[in-house]
Amino acid sequence: MSQHRTIIEPFKIKVVEPLTILSRQEREPILKSAGYNLFLVSSSAVTFDFLTDSGTTAMSANQWAAMMVADESYAGSRSFAKFERVVRNLTGYENVIPTHQGRAAERLLFEAVLKPGMKVPSNNHFDTTRANIEHLGAEAVDLVIAEGRDPSLNHPFKGNIDTNALDLFCAKERAKIPFGMITITNNTGGGQPVSLENVREASRIYKKHGIPFIVDACRFAENAYLIKVREAAQTARSAREIAMEIFSLADGCMMSAKKDGLVNIGGFIALRDTTWVESLRSLLILTEGFPTYGGLAARDLEALAVGLEEVLDERYLEYRTAVTRYMAEGLNKAGIPTVQPPGAHAVYIDARAFLPHIPPHQFPGQSLACELFLSEGIRSCEIGSAMFGHYTDGGKDPKSFVPSQMELVRLAFPRRVYTQSHFDYILEGMVDLVSKRDAMRGMRLTYDPPFLRHFTARFEPLG
Ligand code: F0G
Repeated sequence: MSQHRTIIEPFKIKVVEPLTILSRQEREPILKSAGYNLFLVSSSAVTFDFLTDSGTTAMSANQWAAMMVADESYAGSRSFAKFERVVRNLTGYENVIPTHQGRAAERLLFEAVLKPGMKVPSNNHFDTTRANIEHLGAEAVDLVIAEGRDPSLNHPFKGNIDTNALDLFCAKERAKIPFGMITITNNTGGGQPVSLENVREASRIYKKHGIPFIVDACRFAENAYLIKVREAAQTARSAREIAMEIFSLADGCMMSAKKDGLVNIGGFIALRDTTWVESLRSLLILTEGFPTYGGLAARDLEALAVGLEEVLDERYLEYRTAVTRYMAEGLNKAGIPTVQPPGAHAVYIDARAFLPHIPPHQFPGQSLACELFLSEGIRSCEIGSAMFGHYTDGGKDPKSFVPSQMELVRLAFPRRVYTQSHFDYILEGMVDLVSKRDAMRGMRLTYDPPFLRHFTARFEPLG
């Protein structure tokens, strides 16, 4: 037994990048000219970029080394063979189709299989998954357990799918369901894991109804590790064994490798049988590229082949989950409520609970995200009414505003990028931020684009 209580970063640093540290006075005009939308702020003004954990990983020396020996042949590249071998060994799926990122995998699979009027159940669909399903005239159906919708409730597996609801849904809609899904971890629901028991049960239900089961696996290693530490029957197993069992229970997966692939770009579809493979490969050639590179350079495939192995290192996963837990506990201690319990890739601040004096139509999450930038140089992402809320009367009467289910602000942590002292520095600043709580005001939309508001909308502080 180690005598150390501190969980350290299990790596040392070879390449560094300077951090920009501006004053509040310097950040103010920058935020104003970006319309109080952090998507429109240049990264050069950001100190801690927690907008996303996607594609923001620091790669290892082994990944960079593998990139140097990549074989950039158009067809039959040996880098593809290596990547394919790693994916087959991990998932047990024979048919591996590379794509440039997760949503390209979604678009290809859905275009090959979905028809208007079809329905796809999952715990929660991620935004791009839902958008790609709806784009084809089909319906994305969320069946997460009720506990998963309550931010303050403590439950180890709030990403679980409601298996009773799933069974009933499958029985009723069988003819319209070409495949069913589960997202691990459940990003939309607060980065919450799904238990192995729940994946087993979902698999049994899908099988019973003859429905193929596809896993959205972009954070599979984080989910496997949270199963290891939270699910009593699984603590003796390795994260790899647990991950392999999850894949064995399904018929295929889609993955945005920009998360647990530990790379800056990449994705894939992997399938057990060949039913959809021919049409997928044809669509791949049409828009992504030849089946042995699919929109990626061979060096990306090399980095990914290494990343998919490194991510299952339990020292890394222990450190990864410790960061998130440490930040959640630190924020809670400072008086900032977060979705409970913390998952692995992000902390989700409950802005509705923190700023109860700001009504949803004045975007409490957006207001908090702006304050986090001004006071700490943090770039976060509002996942609340600025993203999902809408007026039924075009914006005249606040009473016609339909708010988002939750008002969250996500701090998503890039993998292997920030250190303990960065997190301590941020937590120190939270005392000052909390003291400003009552003075914080809501926001008003000054530009509301027709689609995907959060990317390009502009705001103005009230009062
Ligand atoms: N599925 C999940 C669960 C995701 O979280 C994402 C991306 C995707 C699919 C799409 O993958 O970005 O490679 O096209 N999530 C990022 C995020 C964007 O910030 O949570 P992609």
